Amino acid sequence: MPGMGPDYAISLSGPRTVALYREAMRQIPGAWHRTAAGAGLVGSDGSIHPTIFAEMSALAARTGAINLGQGFPDEDGPSEVLEVARAAIANGVNQYPPGRGIPDLRASIAEHQQRFYGLRLDPERDVIVTAGATEALAAALLALLGEPDDEIVVLEPFYDSYAAVAALAGARLVTVPLRWPDFRPDLDDLRAAVTDRTRVILVNDPHNPTGAMLDDEIRDEIVRLADRHDAVIVTDEVYEHLVFDRPHVPIATRPGAWERTLTISSGGKTFSTTGWKIGWISGPAPLVDAVLAVKQFLTYVNGSPFQPAIATGLRLDDAFFSGIAGALRTKRDLLGAGLRTAGFEVSTPAGSYFTVADARPLGVTDAAAFCRALPERAGVVAIPLTAFVTPGRRPDYATLVRFAACKRVDVLEEAASRLSALG
Ligand SMILES: Cc1ncc(COP(=O)(O)O)c(C=O)c1O
Repeated sequence: MPGMGPDYAISLSGPRTVALYREAMRQIPGAWHRTAAGAGLVGSDGSIHPTIFAEMSALAARTGAINLGQGFPDEDGPSEVLEVARAAIANGVNQYPPGRGIPDLRASIAEHQQRFYGLRLDPERDVIVTAGATEALAAALLALLGEPDDEIVVLEPFYDSYAAVAALAGARLVTVPLRWPDFRPDLDDLRAAVTDRTRVILVNDPHNPTGAMLDDEIRDEIVRLADRHDAVIVTDEVYEHLVFDRPHVPIATRPGAWERTLTISSGGKTFSTTGWKIGWISGPAPLVDAVLAVKQFLTYVNGSPFQPAIATGLRLDDAFFSGIAGALRTKRDLLGAGLRTAGFEVSTPAGSYFTVADARPLGVTDAAAFCRALPERAGVVAIPLTAFVTPGRRPDYATLVRFAACKRVDVLEEAASRLSALG
């Protein structure tokens, strides 16, 4: 690799070595440049920096701070689900599963969509299993975008993979702002964002990082706009069962939506198995097949022993699903109360792992600097909302911070007590 001589091997910390490393990266051609740039990971000097999640998790590990930054649970999910995976490995379910996913998992996804939402899927044609929601998103966007001038509309702030994959696919990202404190999209902003150039409207509901949920007026406007401009709606519903006040409503259930909607979810959040990466995408067969055309060359398949386990999870009784929502609601309330006591203003989330708080009452003007100092100051890690927005929009979110509530109650209590030192 040009510029990477023996110097590179000596140390990555010396200024000369860092300069060589940056120069070597700059000289590597390819689509990774626009992917990293799309995700906001390119510095003003052209160097690539890690995501804020990697930076903050490293900070948590170094300082011993409580990590309320990254959204993964610190407790195992249902034992009957884990047990099926153990037994599958022991019983030789260790080779490639079918390209669309094992039939029983596809059947259980179809049953789940019928049971919770009244949607009727053909498990043979309308659903494929993916390597987490992340692969489903990447395959869908790469499949549907790519002509010159293609645009994708997303709600902003957004989960970080959206902008990265949109850039990889060569599409222009058009954003609809969600504003503090209720984070509801404005109908006129939506109407202005969707045009004949829009190929995809990507909707995350319940929403990361804000915890907001859409309502039928917004859903129906999205369907109307997609219909008028011939766009495909892609939904990210990974928090579908982590809702606190009202049931989740997939856009695909709304009138006129099914034929132009791809619905994505995964087992990671629902069953506390984020490391298993079993996700799925469903919708009308032609759209699903377009996604499959790309997906089969990304991972081909994944996670054979985990697929029957997630099928078992999706068939658990109603008490399980209401139980996980209730448990997370208690944690949301605990975290929210702790943040208020510490002096933050809090936007109460309707769903998801996350709570957004405004640090302005604490005298904060730059949440990124505040989050970098928080582990030393209070022993807690959180993520500034600017990590989820495009550069031009950062000033609007400058004092907002995302905290994850998906941790044990004693961990949240300890975090709340540490944060109270800020007040
Ligand atoms: C909104 C959203 N979509 C997708 C994902 C990733 O899902 P998976 O782990 O199934 O790829 C996450 C994980 O944090 C998320 O928050």
